[in-house]
Amino acid sequence: MSILSVKNLSCVYSKGTPFEHTAVDNISFDVERGDFIGIIGHTGSGKSTLVQMLNGLLKPSSGTIALDGINIWDKPKEIRKIRFKVGLVFQYPEYQLFEETVEKDIAFGPTNMGLSEKEIHERVLSAAKFVDLNSEFLEKSPFDLSGGEKRRAAIAGVIAMDPDILILDEPCAGLDPLGRDILLSQIYRYHQQRGNTVLLVSHSMEDVASVCDKVMVMNHSHLELYDTTHNVFSEGDRLNSIGLRIPQITSVIDSLIAAGIPLKKGTLTVEQAVEDITEYLKREGRL
Ligand SMILES: Nc1ncnc2c1ncn2[C@@H]1O[C@H](COP(=O)(O)OP(=O)(O)OP(=O)(O)O)[C@@H](O)[C@H]1O
Ligand SMILES: [Mg+2]
Repeated sequence: MSILSVKNLSCVYSKGTPFEHTAVDNISFDVERGDFIGIIGHTGSGKSTLVQMLNGLLKPSSGTIALDGINIWDKPKEIRKIRFKVGLVFQYPEYQLFEETVEKDIAFGPTNMGLSEKEIHERVLSAAKFVDLNSEFLEKSPFDLSGGEKRRAAIAGVIAMDPDILILDEPCAGLDPLGRDILLSQIYRYHQQRGNTVLLVSHSMEDVASVCDKVMVMNHSHLELYDTTHNVFSEGDRLNSIGLRIPQITSVIDSLIAAGIPLKKGTLTVEQAVEDITEYLKREGRL
């Protein structure tokens, strides 16, 4: 059974007013346990609205979301439990840090879950480890951390709830290139080690290409494409037509193929491209 099954999901903001706007329009998809899925789409396409519905923060206007086969709105009073199971890291989550110490901030979610002190402590340490914040950081005030460290502390707070599904809405936004690379590799490691399902909303095609197995493409409130990363980024023209692009390296390799060099189509990372080009040059006796 799919961990998440979404059927005919819609979200209409300000219904019945002149500002009525359908932000998610009749979309359906399944997510398999352990998947690492990228969600891309132009600004305003409905990505944040969609993920807020998936963790029960926003109620759908119509349609259903089943988590492990059970409709998450079957028992509206228990919707809080869904938020522990489907952990959502908002865009710019560092603005939600408010406790005296980083440790207390990370412990906020597990404390609300009613866990024992011992379990909370263990979860805080394990979550902090995923984002490389050592014990020295745990005692600091969150306000004394750098921007990137604050972001990592906020993400650790959601990881500490040990959600079955971790959703990150633009986790790398506003970080410098090194900060982005570090955070992305920590998220990748989290997925590898815990084997949990991860959904990553991102404007960076490079980031999605380097870590995600599948990609959802949102376009004007609709689900335009949902396939393996390789297949989605092989649809360069279709993505261009909706204002998105393929990763730069995919596009460079496509141009080389068009120029008659026999390389593999749908190359997703620079490392893959280097390997492929080196192999080709060796075959040709030019290296
Ligand atoms: N609370 C709200 N009330 C009314 N309209 C909203 C609300 N939140 C979002 N919208 C509108 O719904 C549409 C989808 O917004 P959403 O934030 O889901 O897009 P997004 O794909 O996450 O965009 P971005 O890439 O800029 O984060 C947009 O047109 C937005 O203006
Ligand atoms: Mg958004």
